[in-house]
Amino acid sequence: MSDKKATLSVDGKTLELDVYSGTIGPDVIDVSPLTGNGYFTYDPGFVSTASTESKITYIDGNQGILLHGGYPIDQLAEQSDYLETCYLLLYGALPTAEQKEKFVNKVRMHTMVNDQVSTFFKGFRRDAHPMAIMCGVVGALSAFYHDSLDIKDEQHRQISAIRLIAKMPTLAAMTYKYTIGQPFMYPQNHLSYSENFLHMMFGNPCEPSKVNPVVARAMDKIFILHADHEQNASTSTVRLAGSTGANPFACISAGIAALWGPSHGGANEAVLNMLEEIGDESRIDEFVAKAKDKDDPFRLMGFGHRVYKNFDPRAKVMKQAADEVLAELGVDDPLLRIAKRLEQIALEDEYFVSKKLYPNVDFYSGIILKAIGIPTSMFTVIFALGRTPGWIAHWNEMISGSYKIGRPRQLYTGPAQRDFVPLDKR
Ligand code: CMC
Repeated sequence: MSDKKATLSVDGKTLELDVYSGTIGPDVIDVSPLTGNGYFTYDPGFVSTASTESKITYIDGNQGILLHGGYPIDQLAEQSDYLETCYLLLYGALPTAEQKEKFVNKVRMHTMVNDQVSTFFKGFRRDAHPMAIMCGVVGALSAFYHDSLDIKDEQHRQISAIRLIAKMPTLAAMTYKYTIGQPFMYPQNHLSYSENFLHMMFGNPCEPSKVNPVVARAMDKIFILHADHEQNASTSTVRLAGSTGANPFACISAGIAALWGPSHGGANEAVLNMLEEIGDESRIDEFVAKAKDKDDPFRLMGFGHRVYKNFDPRAKVMKQAADEVLAELGVDDPLLRIAKRLEQIALEDEYFVSKKLYPNVDFYSGIILKAIGIPTSMFTVIFALGRTPGWIAHWNEMISGSYKIGRPRQLYTGPAQRDFVPLDKR
């Protein structure tokens, strides 16, 4: 119940609806009583729908603000590290030194996957898309960790969270190794989270791994920038799957599937493919014109966002990180010049300005990942790895509180009831 009310008049009836205020952000109108009065709300794409109350992440799309537990994303990217950000998302506060050490050690102790998991990979073609493999192997974890599948048990949820965060880099690197026909690398637990991932990606059993600390820091930053983004499509998918009581590994696998699409996490791969297709600055105008053409389905990948209508704060940090990494590694990537020119043109073009289409996080992440040596087909896997704590944090927040199965309704526009017509009479 709330003191603030909204009034809705329809068909001569007046309905009084509660209005709730969050800590910050727009108020929400509680439309749940509508169904009892014979109405549903209609909001395709959930553009005006808050599906839940949450304490984890706040976004102000007009001002380009992204806060995790109240902390701005740029401060976390500069001053925190990925595992600390995971802790913040899972537990709602930055850890003390002691809490952090305990958490990092716990993650370290779970980096290995059951050896039997490695046999799953052999079922995939070597040229399978890495996201196809990830959907399968992450979901398959539910067949191994029976001791942490009781979602009503807080301890089970905690151990599943740690397992997922710890094993995602191992599975992601195994996926890559499998697609290039190299042996899997075991995790090295003296390494940091990001160093370990790079070691498993690029190391081989014949030589000791050498991980460039600048690259490891850039990787860590990329993971932080992807760690959470409130009720986005993949997180909402995880929550919807979780609302049925499905186990966390199955829910995260559903999230990976939702992330794969080019409108969501698949955009980072699509951006690089697009920049390569443009190939030369002289062709940018042609592609901008295609993006503006109503009859052409082509969109400038890495531009636009459902929520950000001013700038994507993650893109700002990512752009700076791209400059730093390329300078440090001495990479002069012509794609970066195309990207910068494209960004400049789009930012000045009336079409993009009037529709508030700005570069998003995926626009620059591909440039860094490419410089680090990550193949394009692995880009969305990196996003999935980074997003895992966000998915689990939202899943856990839902399961820890009171929730209902997610079950939207519809505006039915098909045929009204009619009698079945036998085949010989049709
Ligand atoms: N290039 C050209 N036109 C665009 C673009 C684009 N990238 N994005 C949106 N528009 C146009 C769109 O055609 C529409 O025009 P009109 O009003 O004339 O019909 C208008 O802008 C609004 O677009 P929308 O599709 O209704 O907006 P949305 O909020 O439903 O979609 C989006 C958001 C991110 C799916 C979309 O901007 C897009 O497809 N961008 C390219 C893919 C991309 O970069 N995705 C990554 C998102 S950030 C990472 C993540 O969080 O997953």
